[in-house]
Amino acid sequence: MRVTMIGSGYVGLVSGACFADFGHDVVCVDLNTAKIEALQRGEIPIFEPGLDALVATNASAGRLTFTNDLPSAVAQADIVFVAVGTPSRRGDGHADLSYVYAAARDIARAVRGFTVIVTKSTVPVGTGDEVERIIRETNPEADVVVVSNPEFLREGAAIEDFKRPDRIVVGIEDERARPVMEEVYRPLYLNQGPLIFTGRRTAELTKYAGNAFLAMKITFINEIADLCEQTGANVQDVARGIGADNRIGSKFLHPGPGYGGSCFPKDTLALAKTGQDYGTPLRLVETTIAINDQRKRAMGRKVIAALQGKARGKTVGVLGLTFKPNTDDMRDAPSIAIIQTLIDAGARVRAYDPEGMEAARAVLDNVEYCESAYDAAKGADCLVLVTEWNAFRSLDLVRIKDLMISPVLVDLRNVYRPNEAEAAGFAYTSVGRRS
Ligand code: NAD
Ligand code: UGA
Repeated sequence: MRVTMIGSGYVGLVSGACFADFGHDVVCVDLNTAKIEALQRGEIPIFEPGLDALVATNASAGRLTFTNDLPSAVAQADIVFVAVGTPSRRGDGHADLSYVYAAARDIARAVRGFTVIVTKSTVPVGTGDEVERIIRETNPEADVVVVSNPEFLREGAAIEDFKRPDRIVVGIEDERARPVMEEVYRPLYLNQGPLIFTGRRTAELTKYAGNAFLAMKITFINEIADLCEQTGANVQDVARGIGADNRIGSKFLHPGPGYGGSCFPKDTLALAKTGQDYGTPLRLVETTIAINDQRKRAMGRKVIAALQGKARGKTVGVLGLTFKPNTDDMRDAPSIAIIQTLIDAGARVRAYDPEGMEAARAVLDNVEYCESAYDAAKGADCLVLVTEWNAFRSLDLVRIKDLMISPVLVDLRNVYRPNEAEAAGFAYTSVGRRS
């Protein structure tokens, strides 16, 4: 099949490369000329494990190409995916759909023959109706069907998630879309049969409901962690104890500094706004958002408490800046609020991240960037582990301690065991456990 991907960011590039790997002819389009030129030179503009090899293999086989020429890419396509950004709209928290609607207008002008238009971006319920209206208004002759096919991949595990999904949700309003969607996902459909066909509005809402549920699950275990700290219980054992119940499930029960990233924060906010618009407030989601927002700064205060309440003039080393490991994505990373809280309290911050330093510099300009974890520990009064990169899992704690002014370790991801940190001489604080 001839597949065109509009938007070559985290989702568009990964999906495009995976569809090419399934044997389809894929053209990835982006407005960003520098991004397309880099991709044409074989440079991958984002850090995502395995993506460089996947792109290289499929590009050299001629199945994956990159262009700024949207009209030509759309005109030759059997199926066009829209994978542009849907960030929070400034001011009100609704999803900003301007990129989706602009893409719909561009597609409408360029489309030739019967074409399936698929929204892969995360969009509020009812957006497919508006996309269809825009296309018909822009080009009444266009022979298209508009489908919702939300994406469930995670950054850092994107290729694996795309190729081995728990399910693929496809929302259609016109049966002509069904065989085309089955064909484009054929390798997955044949092996696992995880395609779930629904109405378009249901598919759109399913995406938000899934992300909100996961965000609530994380927030729940974070609150239980706080209670564990007060009562002397151990949150990891609680998580293991409840997660073993299949009705609950063991995943997304890792306590930490609050969820971040390009999706949970903006999607929970957009879902809450949709609920309010329809007169159906989603109070669990609204509360989740409020708790998570407060938690990030509360983690900054936890660090200050580890410094005996005196941050002014102290140096804090921060390990990990991205919102999770194995990505260079800094969007809504908890590190931003944590570091801001520390700086507001008068601390000096030295930080290191294996892949996120360039993106971090764009959002955190009052930080000293270091060469390594050991460099970040140099001269520090306290070291904070914010993102659980594998590189931070087996640090030489004795060496770290010797580099620091005072051996205080705040482990916001429970990477170390309290007894090993204490044996190395640290005053050690983690999340939801005392020992
Ligand atoms: P991104 O910002 O990394 O990429 C979006 C790309 O679209 C950018 O490169 C931008 O230049 C391009 N673009 C914007 N308008 C365009 C247009 N009219 N024509 C061509 N290109 C255009 O965003 P992302 O993280 O890939 O997210 C895309 C969508 O997928 C969002 O709705 C997001 O919520 C959803 N999503 C993201 C993830 C994730 O892990 N990042 C996972 C699932 C779903
Ligand atoms: C998330 C979802 O997991 C994907 O299914 C979805 O497609 C994507 O959002 C999206 O819609 O864009 P992602 O944001 O890449 O994926 O990463 P996650 O692994 O879900 O982590 C999100 C945040 O939650 C991170 O800050 C992470 O540290 C935090 N988290 C996750 C926890 O604090 N505890 C956990 O147990 C799990």
